[in-house]
Amino acid sequence: MRSRLSWMPLLAALLIGVTAFCSPAMANTAIVKLGEALFEDTTLSLNGNQSCMTCHHPLAGFADPSNHIDPLGSPVSDGSDPGLFGGRNAPSAAYAAFSPALNCEDDGEGGLFCTGGMFWDGRATGLADTDTGGIMVAGEVTGPTFDPLADQAKGPFQNPIEMALTPEELVDRVRAADYAWRFKRAFGYSVHRAPAHVVYNDIGIAIAAFERSRKVNRFSSKFDRFVAEQKKRRVDVATIALDDAGVVVDGRMRRVRSRVFSREELEGLALFNMPNDNDGILDAGEGGNCAACHPSGPISDPTDSKGKTLFTDFSYDNLGVPANPVVDDLAGPQPADMGLYATVTGLLGYSSDDERAAGTKGLFKVPTLRNVAKTAPYAHNGFFPTLFSIVQFYNTRMMAPLGGPEVGEPNIEELGDLGLSRDQEEKIVLFMETLTDL
Ligand code: HEC
Ligand code: HEC
Repeated sequence: MRSRLSWMPLLAALLIGVTAFCSPAMANTAIVKLGEALFEDTTLSLNGNQSCMTCHHPLAGFADPSNHIDPLGSPVSDGSDPGLFGGRNAPSAAYAAFSPALNCEDDGEGGLFCTGGMFWDGRATGLADTDTGGIMVAGEVTGPTFDPLADQAKGPFQNPIEMALTPEELVDRVRAADYAWRFKRAFGYSVHRAPAHVVYNDIGIAIAAFERSRKVNRFSSKFDRFVAEQKKRRVDVATIALDDAGVVVDGRMRRVRSRVFSREELEGLALFNMPNDNDGILDAGEGGNCAACHPSGPISDPTDSKGKTLFTDFSYDNLGVPANPVVDDLAGPQPADMGLYATVTGLLGYSSDDERAAGTKGLFKVPTLRNVAKTAPYAHNGFFPTLFSIVQFYNTRMMAPLGGPEVGEPNIEELGDLGLSRDQEEKIVLFMETLTDL
């Protein structure tokens, strides 16, 4: 009896130890660690000079720091092969994890309504074999993973204007890396013995796990502290607006007070939230209409954002952003960027004669605004060097004479003629600056 009792705690401890070691949480930590090492490894590029982090650095909100330093002269990223540029601005890799797989349905008005996917045009769909979903590696097809983020992560390595390796070269370099042993702990196999196409797929899965981790999605901004403060007071942040007397109130018309936000930031949030009929006159109750596409409260979506605010509904729109001449200077003359249309007619197989597909010309994914103050320049081609300039564009579409919308029919119902004053534009910018993770 006595001896049995004394053995019990030891046995229990052993059991707990063993199950903890093999638990999904433990395996996930190992996968995240592997993903982080892969994300930061510059040897995984043609000239050994570029990792994912080069273009998605934490100090630049997981976007490209070289763009941030020179947003006017450097809107697009340089490849591992110096002097090779792409035509699009690098978005943040943080909070992208919450984007669901690409889904397009008839919108009931003869068009298509699409949400989700990865990249400005959703082409890492997370659906099935796509250019990034099913790649040939050593004669075998990898994937698909059915995860847009993992699909995406398999792309840059073999993109000639990015890391520029063949899939086989990539796997060889990963096998030679000092963290190669981590595959055993993460996936339970030796990276040297596993077939190349399996390793390639798991590289994508590991990077995606890192991109889903807290290190990348911190939810630690001033805005998050504000939400926590207001939750205690039962204020729903997404309902905050200005009343007719210009007082900041919530949906129940109670005055909103805060120790976290300044008065200007509060007013900026109110303006960000309030709708606008875009007739050029700012009536009472109207604001910037930003939350119509960048919701300032949680959305119900198939991904697990745990009630957190992402500032995107993952839909697509055409703001009428002009072509950026600096991109042509760097990357060479660029064809008009069709955006979502290329994905819809390519990967999704819609015919170019299909009216519904035609309506997707020039649509780009609504980006998150988290950390946006660190990710200049703005929009898919980096046309806007500052936050103020893009807000001015929403307000007046004043850059339109500089070249007009690049392609398709821009949204003239919700933006372009808001009637905001300069002071109000500045407050919206001040509010966006509260979205930076600390
Ligand atoms: C040379 C710079 C460069 C490198 C290196 C690079 N990226 Fe990107 N990344 C970009 C650009 C540019 C885009 C936008 C391309 C587009 O939309 O067509 C992008 C898009 C993304 C997105 C999509 C975000 C969204 O919201 O749609 C993610 C996620 C991402 N990259 C992660 C990675 C990972 C992981 C790696 C390493 C395997 C990587 N990137 C390497 C420049 C780079
Ligand atoms: C009709 C939907 C819609 C509305 C309304 C809207 N946005 Fe956007 N927003 C988008 C889309 C789509 C993009 C990407 C457009 C592109 O690249 O061509 C974008 C891009 C941005 C960007 C650039 C982010 C980046 O990482 O490049 C900022 C900043 C922004 N919006 C802020 C705002 C503000 C502030 C308002 C209100 C004044 C607003 N948006 C209203 C859909 C919208």
